[in-house]
Parts: sequence; C-alpha cells; structure tokens
Amino acid sequence: MRIAFIGDIVGRPGRYMVREYLPKLRKEFGLDFVVANFENSSHGFGITPKNAKELLNYGIDAMTGGNHTLDKKEIIEYLDKLPLIRPLNFPEKYPGVGYRIFEVANRKVAIINLIGNYGMPLSDNPFTTIEKVLPRIESDHILIDFHSEATAEKRTLFMMLAGRVDMVVGTHTHVATDDYQLYRDSFYITDIGLTGCYDNIIGMESTPQIHRVLTGISSHHKVPEPSKCKKVLQMVVADLEKKEGFTYKVFENGDSATREVFYI
Ligand SMILES: [Fe+2]
Ligand SMILES: [Fe+2]
Repeated sequence: MRIAFIGDIVGRPGRYMVREYLPKLRKEFGLDFVVANFENSSHGFGITPKNAKELLNYGIDAMTGGNHTLDKKEIIEYLDKLPLIRPLNFPEKYPGVGYRIFEVANRKVAIINLIGNYGMPLSDNPFTTIEKVLPRIESDHILIDFHSEATAEKRTLFMMLAGRVDMVVGTHTHVATDDYQLYRDSFYITDIGLTGCYDNIIGMESTPQIHRVLTGISSHHKVPEPSKCKKVLQMVVADLEKKEGFTYKVFENGDSATREVFYI
C-alpha cells in the first residue's frame, strides 16, 4: 500500500502545483492514499471550504492542520463534514477531530495530527497525549503528522514511537529536511517541506518580511501570484507493506519542470 504525504500547501501557487501534478503522480507511483497539510492553503493562512473541496478533488484523500487550522473561520463547520484532521492535543473544546481512520485497500489507516509545544499556541503535551490515545486506536496502520517548529521535538516523538507506528512526518517549517529514513519499520522525516513558491521566504513574498526585521514594523504577509514565482511540490512516499520509500520534489519555473526522487 503506497501512501504519499504532501508538505504544507501554501496559497494559490501550492494549489496550482497539486492540481497540475498530483493526478499524474497518483498514476505514476500507484498511490493508494494521499495526505496533505492544509494549514496555509488559502492565501497562506488557513483554508476555506471552497479550497478544501478543490484540493480533495485534485486527488488528496485526507488533510491535516496545524497552528493555522482555523485562520479562516468558515472552515469550522466543515471540519466534521470533510476528511480534515486538526491537532489531537489542542484544547478539548476545539472543533473537529485529532485523528480519523480511513479504509484503504481493505486495510484501516489512522491519520493523526499532533502539534508541538515550542513556539506554538497553548496545547496539551503531545507526547503524553499520544501515549494515552495510541492504545485506543484500532487500525492496521498509523501515520502521524507532527506539526512542530522544533526539530528535536519531532525526532523525540519519532524515537518514542518507532516500531509502534508506521510513519511520523513533520510539517510546519516549510523547509524540507533530507533525513527521510526507515527505522524499526517506521518511516520518518523531520519536515516534508513546502508546496508553493520557493524563491522567497517559506512561500511568502520576501520584501515585507525583510522590512519587518529591519524596522520592527510588521506588514502583511503575501503569497505571490503563481505566474510570478518558482514553484515546488514536495512529498514523501511510503510503501507500508514493502517498507520502501522515497522523497519526491517537482520544481516548476514557467513552462519547464524538473524533478528529484531520492529512494531510502
Ligand atoms: Fe504551522
Ligand atoms: Fe505551515
């Protein structure tokens, strides 16, 4: 069973990359299930119901959130209607659910979303939360998106769970790490990376952010137009039965596209 996980989709350029490449990639790699992080999909902050449905139509089966889950408040009522998952260790009254179980090729696959503590909104301890919940999850496979700022938190969660879950992937930083590995039959990467514009700062225009650090005056974060930036789609693929995996990146600049595949 081949599963792909796509890194944070940022704004229109990110949605463009999913639309242009994912249907072909599903066929080419024989993907049975595709998960993506949605927290920056609409204008860089949160996701609208319209954009969520659009991404699901392009071939994404489930989507995980993060600190920007509810930046577009209109998504609240759709957290239960669409296959969306928000961090499990958010406060109890937070809308939506922290994990879902999907039927994939006659197997049950649990997708769990957790959020880190360092530099993140107030939330419960992700490590004790997952230890409490894990024994209650009845599923053939378990995949975790750990949405965290700190590399050490992600690595610690993986070492704690290696051999007990199928996969721990990191999201949030929009910067891909090259440490994809298989250890004790569990897949791990510290961060999958970005799906959107990459010739700027984490998918957003550079000028306002440079202005902010030089003057202390904050200004609007803006996602560039898809036609005005170089774009990338970054994802990891894991074969949960064969225990093989690879990272995949497609870079697009105007009409030309280049790709990178690294097997583990
Ligand atoms: Fe985030
Ligand atoms: Fe993000």
